[in-house]
Amino acid sequence: MELLPLWLCLGFHFLTLEWRNRSGMATAASQGGCELVDGVADCRGQNLESVPGDLPPHSRTLLLDANPLSTLWNHSLQHYPLLESLSLRGCRLQRVGRGAFRGQAGLRSLALPDNALSERYRETAAAFRGLRALRRLDLAGNSLTEDMAALLLWNLSSLESLSLARNTIMRLDDSVFEGLGRLRELDLQRNYIFEIEGGAFDGLTELRHLNLAYNNLPCIVDFSLTQLRFLNVSYNALEWFLAAGGEAAFELETLDLSHNQLLFFPLLPQCGKLRTLLLRDNNMGFYRDLYNASSLREMEVQFLLVDGNVTNVTTVSLWEEFASSDLADLRFLDMSQNQFQYLPEGFLKKMPSLSHLNLNRNCLVTLHLREHEPPGALTELDLSQNQLSELRVAPGLPGCLRSLRSFNLSSNQLLGVPAGLFADARNITTVDMSHNPISLCPQLAGLDRLGPPSCVDFRNVASLRSLSLEGCGLGALHDCSFQGTALTHLDLSGNWGVLNGTVAPLRGTARTLQVLSLRNVGLSSGFAELDFSGFGSLRVLDLSGNSLTSFPRVGGSPALRTLDLRRNSLTALPQRAVSERLARSLRTIYLSQNPYDCCGVEGWGSLQRLHTIADLAMVTCNLSSKVIRLTELPGGVPQDCKWERVDMGLLYLVLILPSCLTLLVACTVIFLTFRKPLLQVIKSRCHWSSIY
Ligand SMILES: *[C@@H]1O[C@H](CO)[C@@H](O)[C@H](O)[C@H]1NC(C)=O
Ligand SMILES: *[C@@H]1O[C@H](CO)[C@@H](O)[C@H](O)[C@H]1NC(C)=O
Ligand SMILES: *[C@@H]1O[C@H](CO)[C@@H](O)[C@H](O)[C@H]1NC(C)=O
Ligand SMILES: *[C@@H]1O[C@H](CO)[C@@H](O)[C@H](O)[C@H]1NC(C)=O
Ligand SMILES: *[C@@H]1O[C@H](CO)[C@@H](O)[C@H](O)[C@H]1NC(C)=O
Ligand SMILES: *[C@@H]1O[C@H](CO)[C@@H](O)[C@H](O)[C@H]1NC(C)=O
Ligand SMILES: *[C@@H]1O[C@H](CO)[C@@H](O)[C@H](O)[C@H]1NC(C)=O
Ligand SMILES: *[C@@H]1O[C@H](CO)[C@@H](O)[C@H](O)[C@H]1NC(C)=O
Ligand SMILES: *[C@@H]1O[C@H](CO)[C@@H](O)[C@H](O)[C@H]1NC(C)=O
Ligand SMILES: *[C@@H]1O[C@H](CO)[C@@H](O)[C@H](O)[C@H]1NC(C)=O
Ligand SMILES: *[C@@H]1O[C@H](CO)[C@@H](O)[C@H](O)[C@H]1NC(C)=O
Repeated sequence: MELLPLWLCLGFHFLTLEWRNRSGMATAASQGGCELVDGVADCRGQNLESVPGDLPPHSRTLLLDANPLSTLWNHSLQHYPLLESLSLRGCRLQRVGRGAFRGQAGLRSLALPDNALSERYRETAAAFRGLRALRRLDLAGNSLTEDMAALLLWNLSSLESLSLARNTIMRLDDSVFEGLGRLRELDLQRNYIFEIEGGAFDGLTELRHLNLAYNNLPCIVDFSLTQLRFLNVSYNALEWFLAAGGEAAFELETLDLSHNQLLFFPLLPQCGKLRTLLLRDNNMGFYRDLYNASSLREMEVQFLLVDGNVTNVTTVSLWEEFASSDLADLRFLDMSQNQFQYLPEGFLKKMPSLSHLNLNRNCLVTLHLREHEPPGALTELDLSQNQLSELRVAPGLPGCLRSLRSFNLSSNQLLGVPAGLFADARNITTVDMSHNPISLCPQLAGLDRLGPPSCVDFRNVASLRSLSLEGCGLGALHDCSFQGTALTHLDLSGNWGVLNGTVAPLRGTARTLQVLSLRNVGLSSGFAELDFSGFGSLRVLDLSGNSLTSFPRVGGSPALRTLDLRRNSLTALPQRAVSERLARSLRTIYLSQNPYDCCGVEGWGSLQRLHTIADLAMVTCNLSSKVIRLTELPGGVPQDCKWERVDMGLLYLVLILPSCLTLLVACTVIFLTFRKPLLQVIKSRCHWSSIY
């Protein structure tokens, strides 16, 4: 009777399995290794040497990527007259029959990247002639030259998107894209283009998106593609970028000129909609302040634009680089990794909508905050890795950073910031002041806003959540350094002695603090007595690189999940009881690079059971003079150490036994040798009558 439910259960189980597989069949079937779903035949990577002829004739999409087809025959696709999309990526295609696309009037998308179409491109070009409806064509990675491309693209007038990336195109003239009047998107990245003749893109009146990244273009002058929205010329050898002058309205929204060799700020359209300008990693600077230009005329350059027998001269004043550019819509400006030593007055005022400004890795020495500079809309400002020794705020300008959320001043030479700078930035959440020789303002600092700032005050910056003060050479904190803040992330690493044996200075933030880094701050074992019991939100605690000799007490941090104890002086793991008392929520511990004594790691098992030891494979211990990975300790720890103790006893025994034996033998020999004479001496001395 009891077996009945079990039978029922098993029966039901089988039923569900069968039902599952049946339902799968309704949508997906397979035919000769191809998966068929909703008119899509997916035959990728099936090692096919020809297009299968037995797929459903109504298939609309055929994916044949990664099959060694090598030739697309005249008849290969004849069974599939309704094809809309065909993908033949990486099929070693060399030859496409003249008639291969005959009857493919509906084909809209053709992907042929990573083949060898340069081999018989004339035949392939003839095959393309029939593609009346083609919208998207991908010819990337086919070793095509500009002449081959011109032939292949001839009369593909319906094309909207074209990729010629990763080919061997060197020059572009007006013949290559002739007749592609509907093209919106053109990808030419990773070719060898060093010259673009005037008029090469003239027929492309619908072009919106042009990618020329990773080519060898030395300059772009007289840029006049007003219809373009996106232009990527990163990773070229550009020394100049010069837009056509005049009143022409440009649609350009994104311009990427990063990783080039520009010396001057690009000369952008005078009337435009530019929103994103990327200039990272060039050699740009502003020069006006560095030279005493008595006459601005001395600092002009003339561009000779030669087109056939017509030569036009454009004169540009180098010191007015940005003056004529329309930057009113700019939101995102990346000028990192350049040579900017200063920002000219009025530069940032031209960008009232700017929200992100990146000046990382330049040579800025001072930054002067004036009215509308930086603009009020700025939310993110990165000034890290410069030589800033002074931030100056124009007098009577409180709240000039009112929208700022993130301010990165890392790796500069600041001693302080103007009083109230952070407190007046009402929306600021993230401040990185790491690697600056700052000091924190003393308890009773007067609100003296004059004179060069010599300290930083974070008190009462109510919006601040994340603060990094790593490597600032801070002295011991006083008790109210962070009073009035609700910090969740605090990094005090690399400030030797910053806590001076007590967490009291952090009490003000104890309620909110979630991530606390105290790497390399010189904590010694006394710190283990410090308790984090008030730190109810603490999730991550980094105590690596200190001199802790015993486990810290973190049981009072109920939310603690990650604890980092690497590079300390721990010799023993906590006993089972202690590790159970470690914060119950603790998930991950880092323990490596400590000189554990192999005989003091008895808590290992329980610790491992209770928490994840993230660097398990790297935890080692010292056994006499050997360093052993804990994971490789044979047969568990305690036995090993017992064995070690027994071993030492044995060793002593083995060392002592021979000596003892030798001594015993020697004694016996001496005794036997001298027995008679000795007795005789005694006898003769005493003149006793002997019993012998
Ligand atoms: C269900 O089908 C899959 C393949 O689609 C197969 O791997 C699996 O073994 C089948 N399960 C059963 C219970 O037949
Ligand atoms: C395709 O057909 C033409 C004749 O129409 C023939 O010359 C050519 O060799 C054929 N090519 C292939 C690859 O089938
Ligand atoms: C070029 O394309 C047009 C329209 O798509 C067509 O009418 C014309 O015949 C084609 N020319 C050649 C030589 O194929
Ligand atoms: C420009 O192209 C490079 C290289 O492909 C790419 O890394 C970069 O993200 C592109 N820029 C934009 C704005 O998309
Ligand atoms: C620039 O010229 C002014 C006077 O014309 C002079 O006082 C100043 O020192 C000069 N500065 C430099 C950097 O040559
Ligand atoms: C030269 O200038 C004339 C008139 O300003 C203009 O029509 C022509 O396109 C320009 N040529 C070049 C090569 O810029
Ligand atoms: C430029 O050359 C064209 C022919 O190539 C000629 O018709 C024209 O007159 C020339 N113009 C000048 C200004 O020399
Ligand atoms: C601060 O941020 C909030 C929301 O993120 C926003 O609504 C407000 O306008 C910002 N304040 C200023 C002064 O920009
Ligand atoms: C500040 O900039 C430095 C260096 O560029 C970077 O390592 C750090 O992550 C940045 N800080 C923040 C909070 O983004
Ligand atoms: C560090 O702590 C010791 C003892 O608590 C105290 O005497 C000393 O003044 C403190 N040092 C600083 C710089 O606060
Ligand atoms: C453990 O071994 C390492 C490497 O041999 C040595 O530097 C360290 O002093 C040893 N520690 C102890 C406590 O024996």
